[in-house]
Amino acid sequence: MTRHLIAPSVLAADFGNLAGELEMINRTEADWLHVDIMDGMFVPNISFGPDIVRVMKKYCHKPLDVHLMVEKPERYLDHFAEAGAAHISVHIEACPHLHRVLQQIREMGIKAGVAVNPHTSVSQLEDILEISDLVILMSVNPGFGGQKFIYQTLPKIRQLREMITVRNLSTQISIDGGVGLQNAEAILQAGADILIAGTSVFKSDDPAAVVIAFKNLGGFEY
Ligand code: DX5
Ligand code: ZN
Repeated sequence: MTRHLIAPSVLAADFGNLAGELEMINRTEADWLHVDIMDGMFVPNISFGPDIVRVMKKYCHKPLDVHLMVEKPERYLDHFAEAGAAHISVHIEACPHLHRVLQQIREMGIKAGVAVNPHTSVSQLEDILEISDLVILMSVNPGFGGQKFIYQTLPKIRQLREMITVRNLSTQISIDGGVGLQNAEAILQAGADILIAGTSVFKSDDPAAVVIAFKNLGGFEY
């Protein structure tokens, strides 16, 4: 059985104390730091750019899992690679030439991911799965932290797990948005590998304990 991973989403951190928040995450059992980049076009919100990611890389010792909610993300791949991204995920809805973009990410020695909005069927991943190291299934509409988990994501996880298994691939499934201790076990049992959690980790009184509680949940056996 593969153990699942936990990726706190820095969007929910206190940016007035960014270094302190990242040092706190370093002391937890979190596996990755999820980093949300929003351009005000693909999504209604704007977050931050590569210069801030470079600062995060300096303070955070966990791999940076960069999620680009950006139109034409190919314009910025090298910026985020240089800033220290370990993984870069782009949205299927933002990329007419997704295959090429994933190849470009891999050629930089970075794990390549595809992010999928709630309205997009996972069947659209059929011809891209083989060159995807990661799939981020959005369980909220992207743009903001602290939203409610969309339960229609659970059958999508099961369907994607089946697609990965029959192809004998090692593509990992991340779930992003509204993930908390109340729904994480169902998410894992549906076949997810990685839980991305912003509010439920950073806004808790004891983020390290929440991370441990996530890690101790039963997962999917395959
Ligand atoms: C949503 C972002 C998420 C967000 C998750 O657009 O992609 O990564 O930070 O935050 P929570 O866990 O608060 O829903
Ligand atoms: Zn995200």
